[in-house]
Amino acid sequence: MCGIIGYIGDKKASEILISGLSHLEYRGYDSSGVALCCDDKTYIYKAQGKLNNLVEVLKTKEDICSKATKGIGHIRWATHGLPTTLNAHPHTCNCKNFTLVHNGIIENYQELKEELLSYGCIFQSQTDTEVAAHLIAHEYGKTHDLLKAMQNAVKKIKGAFAFCAIHNNEPDKIVVAKRNAPLIIGVGEGENFIASDIPAIIEYTKKAIYLSDYQVGVVKKDSIQIYDDNGNLVINKVEHLPFEAMAISKMGYKHFMLKEIHEQSDVVRNVLSGKLIGHDNKINLDEFKLTQEKIKNITRVQIIACGTSLHAGLVGKYIIEKFANIPTDVEPSSEYIYRDTIADENTLVIGISQSGETADTITAIKQVKEKNAHIAIITNRADSTMARLADSLLPVNAGIEVSVAATKSYMAQLISLYMLAIYLMENKGITKFDNEIKKIKQELIELPNKIEALLENTDNIQKIAKKYSSYKDFIFIARGINFPSALEGALKLKEISYINATGYGAGELKHGPIAMLDENMPVLAILNSGIVYDKVLSNCEEARARQAKLIGVADYIADKDKDLFDDLIIIPPVCDLLSPALNIVVLQLLAYYIAEYLGKDVDQPRNLAKSVTVE
Ligand code: G6P
Repeated sequence: MCGIIGYIGDKKASEILISGLSHLEYRGYDSSGVALCCDDKTYIYKAQGKLNNLVEVLKTKEDICSKATKGIGHIRWATHGLPTTLNAHPHTCNCKNFTLVHNGIIENYQELKEELLSYGCIFQSQTDTEVAAHLIAHEYGKTHDLLKAMQNAVKKIKGAFAFCAIHNNEPDKIVVAKRNAPLIIGVGEGENFIASDIPAIIEYTKKAIYLSDYQVGVVKKDSIQIYDDNGNLVINKVEHLPFEAMAISKMGYKHFMLKEIHEQSDVVRNVLSGKLIGHDNKINLDEFKLTQEKIKNITRVQIIACGTSLHAGLVGKYIIEKFANIPTDVEPSSEYIYRDTIADENTLVIGISQSGETADTITAIKQVKEKNAHIAIITNRADSTMARLADSLLPVNAGIEVSVAATKSYMAQLISLYMLAIYLMENKGITKFDNEIKKIKQELIELPNKIEALLENTDNIQKIAKKYSSYKDFIFIARGINFPSALEGALKLKEISYINATGYGAGELKHGPIAMLDENMPVLAILNSGIVYDKVLSNCEEARARQAKLIGVADYIADKDKDLFDDLIIIPPVCDLLSPALNIVVLQLLAYYIAEYLGKDVDQPRNLAKSVTVE
């Protein structure tokens, strides 16, 4: 989604802003813009579409680019108003002395706009951001002080925002503010940075201050001052940023998505490290803060998440119910918010989020936190808003995920959920699965090698991808613990190739979707050699009888059944309960190679955002 960058120092601001924005591109956006300051003036340049379009514009402004050592920049993912150059940020006010970039949504923008219109403000765009720009500029008119203007304006604004603002009368500073949207100040020497996310500034500094909600900051090239919402000066800790600049390089892969798929064996090793030490030992999960007594009292688990994280949650339901014997509901956060959900101090709520910034999940978590439920957060960003809301923070440490389509973070979430389910079981004193659990622990230890074996030879998957890349529709089916794999496999294909793919429980095929089957609708079936094998096979027969092309993904297919399939992808042998972790690698690769054959923008698919910070 939208991204912010700001710079004040002695270097060429344009280069730092463009480099920062390019590292935020992965989040998904549709236009971009910068404001560059020199000679006490501000020059605004914007472009629709990819960041390269803005780079082309800046090439024609070399005189300004070579002089400007202060600036703010933005990539926009349209919410209010079309993704046009006019609606792109930065926005300004009537006199053009004040300039603003903004992430988030101003909920009361209509009301504010009416008031500002009555003061004579003239609006150029359809954005809520321009309303904020006029509002802050109007406050500046009263105070002649950018800090005070920002402090007054934010009190009038409802909604979420991260602001980065400049004024021609105060050329030595950038003023920032935030509420329910992330903003960090990168600390340099003789220069400082502002960003909505770490990758934008990591190549310049590893030190940063996290701005808290309701705080306002004044960033100069050699000082940073932060004020709380009462206007008192406060001191925020300078934190060490957890990423290496290397993490945002493709390391020779054609796309980040392919690199991230290949990182999954190490991701599993990372999650297991320190938690699973040999199949005879209990799971060690120090991050989980509930006492054994309280674990025994848990009466229900609620998993809330969105998108790919939601699919990981569905696998979680299966294993938590099976091993820990606790009723578990899984719900998209966006629906959870609008129900009278029942939760109390004996409820364990698990929020799952790669980014830790998904607005719907944050709202859902805040809502249920008030009911005294224990909040466990499984996230890839231990520095995120959600992480800060956690009673138990379970970081998955998958490393930064750049591709919009989530892959390695899903793997990390799955493995974390296995750890949690077994941990809950062991702490409840349930022993009836001891032998099965030993086997699963051993298989978890072997899993990274199996993922590597699968990734070593992708020729068959590439061949199948090419063969099916011209189909317009796809159905994915599975049963039991792989039902979420069917949903996630279809989502991956849809996200990056724009092929209409839908996942169904295989048993549901005959209750409607079967009507769509013919030779133009391939069916991909996931059949592992567990309890549902025969049943999924019967569903494959039903599909075959309707001339649908059939692709099977399995760790084993009996010789007598092989002819049923047009194409088969065989994964290394794996127990049924762990099979989602291997099947998904096949489905990610299939989606990747199909999108690649179709020439799609794999890492930045149209309309999608990596981190959805609006409800
Ligand atoms: C967006 C992304 C998806 C992601 C979903 C939830 O839609 O494009 O890849 O699964 O948000 O994000 P989260 O960060 O909460 O896991």
